[in-house]
Amino acid sequence: MKCVSQLISVCFVFVLFCTASAHEPRRGWTRPQQWLHQGPLQHKQDQKDNDLEHFIQTQSHVAIAGILANIGPDGKRCHGAAPGIVIASPSNVDPDYVYTWTRDAALTMKLIVDRFIAGSKDLQASIEDYIGAQTKLQVVDNPSGTFSSGGLGEPKFNVDGSVFNGAWGRPQRDGPALRAITLIAYSKWLLEHEGEHEVTARLWPIIAKDLQYVEATWHQDGFDLWEEVKGSSFFTLSVQHRALVEGATLARAIGKPNAAYLDNASGLLCALQAFWNGDFVEANINANSGRSGKDANTILASIHTFDVLTGCDDATFQPCSSKALANLKEVVDSFRTIYPINAHTPTDQAVAIGRYQEDVYMGGHPWYLNTAAVAEQLYDALHQWNRTGSINVTETSLPFFQDFIPKLSTGQYKSTSKTYRTLTRAIRSQADSYLRIIQKYTPTDGSLAEQFSRDDGRPLSATHLTWSYAAFLTAVSARNNHHPAPWGASNVTLPHDCKSSAPCAFVALSFCAHVQTAWGDAVYIVGSSAELGAWDLTRAMPLSAEDHTVVMPLWAGEINLKRPRRIAYKYFLRKYDGTVVWEKHENREIDLAGGCTGAQERAVVVDDVLEWE
Ligand code: NOJ
Ligand code: NOJ
Repeated sequence: MKCVSQLISVCFVFVLFCTASAHEPRRGWTRPQQWLHQGPLQHKQDQKDNDLEHFIQTQSHVAIAGILANIGPDGKRCHGAAPGIVIASPSNVDPDYVYTWTRDAALTMKLIVDRFIAGSKDLQASIEDYIGAQTKLQVVDNPSGTFSSGGLGEPKFNVDGSVFNGAWGRPQRDGPALRAITLIAYSKWLLEHEGEHEVTARLWPIIAKDLQYVEATWHQDGFDLWEEVKGSSFFTLSVQHRALVEGATLARAIGKPNAAYLDNASGLLCALQAFWNGDFVEANINANSGRSGKDANTILASIHTFDVLTGCDDATFQPCSSKALANLKEVVDSFRTIYPINAHTPTDQAVAIGRYQEDVYMGGHPWYLNTAAVAEQLYDALHQWNRTGSINVTETSLPFFQDFIPKLSTGQYKSTSKTYRTLTRAIRSQADSYLRIIQKYTPTDGSLAEQFSRDDGRPLSATHLTWSYAAFLTAVSARNNHHPAPWGASNVTLPHDCKSSAPCAFVALSFCAHVQTAWGDAVYIVGSSAELGAWDLTRAMPLSAEDHTVVMPLWAGEINLKRPRRIAYKYFLRKYDGTVVWEKHENREIDLAGGCTGAQERAVVVDDVLEWE
């Protein structure tokens, strides 16, 4: 019985230099596109596979060259950017992207570090330059503050490394976390290669500043990765959590343990649970964005916190977790109907993916990097199923899997089963078809812009977007089972006593009404929420007298609130002859919008003493 006690369970710019290439005509586009004369629909499957393999191979070269062209000082599309500065794109007008964003740069350099570790030793010079550039950028006073008063949250700088003073959505708190993650990856390699001094002398000072920033500010609001919504962003909190977990391990390894990192990581992990709303992951909370909440933000969060040694863990939102898969389907489906180029695509096949359905920025078209991100999540998931030898289909992930086998039911499917083989084959083919979309809408010269037209797939917005190239390459690595080193997610456990100020995803609300009644009386609650009849007496919730005794006259009931919020309610009594008697009290209220105790689910018990009118 829940009614006994209150239980709460639980190019310097060198605009000059950088512009030359920005004005290059889109050569590839003016020529007929590959897919127009190839007519892939008519091709046999193996021909199609060969086409994709061939595209992946040639495009990978273009992509790595495209990234290096955007890194100073020698990048051919941004001569004059300071050493180690990664420009977002050489486009200097509509939009002007000749800046360095901390986020884009860190995500790109993470890929460079991973490729370096995997054997591309020629990339070390760029990494070293990047370290040098970040050492300087961290201490540039800027509109977000100085390095010790919030300046690390500044989203972007001029490509000569000087401050950008224009109006902008600032601060953006994912930047320092992403930079720390990138530098930690390189530090781990150095530690294995007698580079301990390098780490303590050059890298740790940068990393420690970033981690300190994360620790001090993660619970404050800021702008999301798309630079538009002020609130708490799932992507931001996810990468902050990862940075603190990895940072704690590195700190220990170099003899500078810091318990505060893990304490804050636990707080972050609790806070992250609140973004799950029962159907998908809200991209932003504590924000009034007026949007559906379905957003590629969350898919990027999943792939950038993928840990190859962790199973399908829901708490860290691993790519193969039930929640991440359910979310993937919701986000993908939100793009199926809004772009003409996606029309009539069966649900087991890929579509072009944008940022979020309400997007209007530069026309609000699909993005290459988000289309690649969905492929990457699927390849990551396939790798884990293969590694662990089974797929676990839960109530939560069932809709995702039913796109491939409509009659599938929940359960565990071992890798020896036919169902497993059918699912993995279909999912791999869907993942590939995301890359095929990129293939279809990539000009013959392989240049990747930021967006491609929702109407005909023509490249749009910033040209040669560094992040587009990086996203293509990380998706391809995942396809080839070349995964980045693990970051320790397998050691992370969700605290039992999560305390977060974020709203809970779900509240089990028990009502305990203490009141004397006569034989034949029935007690009800009617209230503002659908579960309580939305003030319609005929749909009011009946309470149960099961635990009613003479000493303890108790009427009780319970509802599950999926979207916890403030609700109003009132008790009434229906006598055996049908007459209604209201309680004397005015409408009662309970506010369940904040203060989540318990990671995603919270049990709340209200004790109300009643008197009848
Ligand atoms: C608004 C856009 O939506 C955002 O993503 C972009 O970064 C900024 N404007 C700057 O162009
Ligand atoms: C706009 C995107 O919304 C943002 O995420 C990115 O950092 C900048 N463009 C630069 O690429």
